[in-house]
Amino acid sequence: MTHIAFIGGGNMARSLIGGLLKTGVPATKLRVAEPMAQARESLGRDFGVTTFDDNRLAAADAGVLVLAVKPQVMPAIHHELRDTLQRNRPLLISIAAGVRIDQLERWFGNLLPIVRCMPNTPALIGAGATGLCANLRVTPQQREQAQHILDAVGITRWIDDETLMDTVTALSGSGPAYFFAFVEALEEAAVAQGMPRETARMLAVQTCLGAGRMLVESNEAPATLRQRVTSPNGTTQAALESFSADQLPRIVTRAVAAATRRGAELAAALDKE
Ligand SMILES: NC(=O)c1ccc[n+]([C@@H]2O[C@H](COP(=O)([O-])OP(=O)(O)OC[C@H]3O[C@@H](n4cnc5c(N)ncnc54)[C@H](OP(=O)(O)O)[C@@H]3O)[C@@H](O)[C@H]2O)c1
Repeated sequence: MTHIAFIGGGNMARSLIGGLLKTGVPATKLRVAEPMAQARESLGRDFGVTTFDDNRLAAADAGVLVLAVKPQVMPAIHHELRDTLQRNRPLLISIAAGVRIDQLERWFGNLLPIVRCMPNTPALIGAGATGLCANLRVTPQQREQAQHILDAVGITRWIDDETLMDTVTALSGSGPAYFFAFVEALEEAAVAQGMPRETARMLAVQTCLGAGRMLVESNEAPATLRQRVTSPNGTTQAALESFSADQLPRIVTRAVAAATRRGAELAAALDKE
């Protein structure tokens, strides 16, 4: 197996490294380039991986290079890495939110096999959802490699049409925040009725966890589970009718469209780089 090098040793890289080690990838196969000495020390201590303060050294003999830096850092690192990447042609995996494959090809060279991924924050606890999109140079074996790396922190789905990656961002990328906002609103609603905040939060949070687990573990459609807890003329029906009157699906559709548009705008801003 060839080396996997991470450029950027922040939160996402740490969760991917932790996940890969759990799947049995030896620490000796992993390299991380990270500018902060303190972060390098903790990566070495926590995972036993080799760390570098020079991106070129980490990338030197990598078969897979994972770009785990913020999108705005991406244009700056291409000067350092372009020659190495053109010489070795490793599989380039980018997890930078919103950065398009054509931008990566422009910065790092258009002969590279590239997989663009969009993970989400639950990846930090191994419960992520990642959309992956490959350019035409990615071989079936490299697709498997990329999927193996992202499967280490949750579930993965291939997206054939790259324009849908902005929808992935708006659905699963930003999605955790939608649920946090909903739990906040539930908590406030119960507090407004006189419930102590701590009790309201605990019940709201556990309800979110329980509903999520039922969705995953029952394998039933969300609509089926909803109908099952909705007795005719009962309390749930009263609440759902109120959601309907307030056009919940329209509210969600508009929010997801706004996030999709914003994703495309943020990527377009990087076109000037
Ligand atoms: N966190 C998420 O849930 C999530 C979800 C989806 C996608 N992503 C994407 O994943 C990427 C990483 O996110 P993150 O949350 O892991 O961010 P992060 O914790 O800030 O990690 C980025 C790391 O890259 C380092 N870095 C900065 N400049 C560098 C350079 N020139 N060369 C090498 N390393 C450099 C940073 O070091 P310093 O701290 O010293 O600057 C930091 O340790 C981002 O592009 C983000 O869009 C993250």
